[in-house]
Amino acid sequence: MNEKVKDIKNKFESDLKNVKNTKELNELRVEYLGKKGYIQKLNPLIKDLSNEEKKEFGKSLNDIKNFISKELEELKMKLDKKELEEKLVSEKIDTSLPATKFSKGSIHPLTKVRREIEEIFISMGYDVVEGPEVEFDLYNFEKLNLPKNHPARDMQDTFYVNDEVLLRTHTSPVQVRTLEKSEGDIRIICPGKTYRRDSDDPTHSHQFTQVEGLVVSKDVSLSHLKGTLEEFAKKMFGDSVKVRFRPNYFPFTEPSIEVDISCFKCKGEGCSFCSKTGFIEILGAGMVHPNVLKMSGYDPEVYRGFAFGMGIERVAMIRHEINDIRDFYTNDIRFLNQFNRKGGLEDEA
Ligand code: DAH
Repeated sequence: MNEKVKDIKNKFESDLKNVKNTKELNELRVEYLGKKGYIQKLNPLIKDLSNEEKKEFGKSLNDIKNFISKELEELKMKLDKKELEEKLVSEKIDTSLPATKFSKGSIHPLTKVRREIEEIFISMGYDVVEGPEVEFDLYNFEKLNLPKNHPARDMQDTFYVNDEVLLRTHTSPVQVRTLEKSEGDIRIICPGKTYRRDSDDPTHSHQFTQVEGLVVSKDVSLSHLKGTLEEFAKKMFGDSVKVRFRPNYFPFTEPSIEVDISCFKCKGEGCSFCSKTGFIEILGAGMVHPNVLKMSGYDPEVYRGFAFGMGIERVAMIRHEINDIRDFYTNDIRFLNQFNRKGGLEDEA
């Protein structure tokens, strides 16, 4: 009987020598120790043996089982190690290979210019506030001294949601919201999107961006407004820029002015960019109309204010010689990439 065990042992030893990988090793384990394996097949033989022989046979079965398990385990460890080493070699990363390139996004030119404008005013002590883009007629027009049916409403073709609600046509309603919330001195700017019904062309867009400014105090005057805007223009466009103030009309300011800067291309000589005038208009401004102050709870006998509103697209177009306002919105990657160059508008997000 022990002969059978011996045969299995011999066969196992020679089979084991031929095992080349863990897969073959597992197959061998099943072949010998599995439910239908060689060892199990010997079990039924026990019943025909004498007690003495049973004992002996049982022992040798156990021994061979332990022997096979141990041998398999030892070989498994060796094979695992070998296979891991092979894997490490075959999957080695070659760090000298060129890296996969991926394109990096860049800050949109309008965002970049908006941030520059914010920085300038923050350095002059202004707070940056925001207001809603979907606005009440009350704030967009009425409380800015533009009652219903006022002819000046026609200057701002409006997207109405209903009779009382609209897409704000300018950032000026934030003046009203700020006045209503405040007491005493105010010094804010408000950047944001604005909307007007327009046929889009190189200089018009139905959506655009403005920055509103409002300063309220007991002793502000037009000369403060002038000084502030001159300082802004110098920081934004350079020290040599000339600033020109022209009278204008806005219902929410009195007096009202329009502000131009000298053309950066011809330095005020007159060229095709500035329509031979030597100047380019950048914003509207004025002293806050007493009615506006009064409607929002400020006593115009005590408080005075100045306000201004500029188009960010306009500033960006002048700064970067962009000829078509639609370029800001059509997201042509070739346009946007120009602001990604070193020395251009490059910035980390
Ligand atoms: N809201 C005006 C517009 O969009 C611009 C403007 C003019 C704003 C004069 C002001 C201001 O705050 O004082 O045309």
